Amino acid sequence: QELQMNLEQIEKGGYEHFMLKEIYEQPRAIQDTYRGRLLRDEAIIKMAGVEDNMKKFLNADRIIIVACGTSWHAGLVAEYIFEEFSRIPVEVEYASEFRYRNPIITEKDIVIAISQSGETADTLAAVKLAKEKGAFVFGVCNVVGSSIARETHAGAYTHAGPEIGVASTKAFTTQITVLSLMALRLARAKGTMSSSVFRMYLQELELIPQKVEQLLSVNEHVKEISKKYLLSTNCLYLGRGYNFPVALEGALKLKEISYIHAEGYPAAEMKHGPIALIDDRMPVIVIATSKGHYEKVVSNIQEIKSRKGKIIAIVTEGDTTVKEIADHVIEIPDSEEAFSPLLTTIPLQLLSYHIAVMRNCNVDQPRNLAKSVTVE
Ligand code: G6P
Repeated sequence: QELQMNLEQIEKGGYEHFMLKEIYEQPRAIQDTYRGRLLRDEAIIKMAGVEDNMKKFLNADRIIIVACGTSWHAGLVAEYIFEEFSRIPVEVEYASEFRYRNPIITEKDIVIAISQSGETADTLAAVKLAKEKGAFVFGVCNVVGSSIARETHAGAYTHAGPEIGVASTKAFTTQITVLSLMALRLARAKGTMSSSVFRMYLQELELIPQKVEQLLSVNEHVKEISKKYLLSTNCLYLGRGYNFPVALEGALKLKEISYIHAEGYPAAEMKHGPIALIDDRMPVIVIATSKGHYEKVVSNIQEIKSRKGKIIAIVTEGDTTVKEIADHVIEIPDSEEAFSPLLTTIPLQLLSYHIAVMRNCNVDQPRNLAKSVTVE
């Protein structure tokens, strides 16, 4: 028993929980994921799984992404990135829905399955179904040699390293990294992005680990904010564009580990329902980065404020407008909007983490949840 405990302490590398360790590993994990693939000096992206199947990618009518949980959120971010960069229509589906609704799939479709464990039963079944229907199936997995990695025609691994905490953190940011690399590679192959813009994005992506590292210094500030909201019973997360899926992911993280009910919404949809819930006991976490429909998000923030909602805003460094209205602001380094999810996600992970710890929840192994769901 004691030996077991000591081993666990060593594995946690001085952190109180695996989740916190894994949050802090993100600069490294993101870097490991693009290392050897993003070659900035040569201005190329090398991904064997994409290169070897380039014809299929170039002829594809559309990409269908299938995944569950946090991986599904990474898929949603990828939808925005793929469509913007490479102009390929993308649909994102819950694997569990896809597999049971007799989906229309042809040989001209590419199915991308995203899975940290590579073992999620619904995602694996979706892969098998897509294969049967003749689609080309590409896997984005973290676990080498996992079932989904083996079942797919080709793939690209995330190099996040083992993720132990049930709530996914570094798997999510590395999935977005791999999918961004793919979208950039295809954008060049399809000619939907100029070489100068491509170079700019390579440079921006290469800078992300350093920005995440810098951003992690908000930890103490986020902890202070968390103290004020640990007794909340509901929480709303809002974001637009690339950061709409981040709002969903932020809400999922809070639900999973703190057992506080949370909902993520596209900010503009707030007026079609959730606004009815806002009062002085409702914290609203708003992602309001400077390049993402900023003015529109600011007006959403004003609507919340006028209904006395409490606002925690994620803003770009140097922001002044939101700072005046919000109850709390968390600053993130500036970046290209397409890569901002890699940054905005981090404080939301920390917020859920601290709230869960203060509520004495089992952060690494939340009740009723499993790290990989291998049964239906
Ligand atoms: C479970 C885990 C989640 C994960 C989801 C999908 O629900 O608790 O953290 O996002 O499965 O897992 P996968 O391994 O397929 O990414």
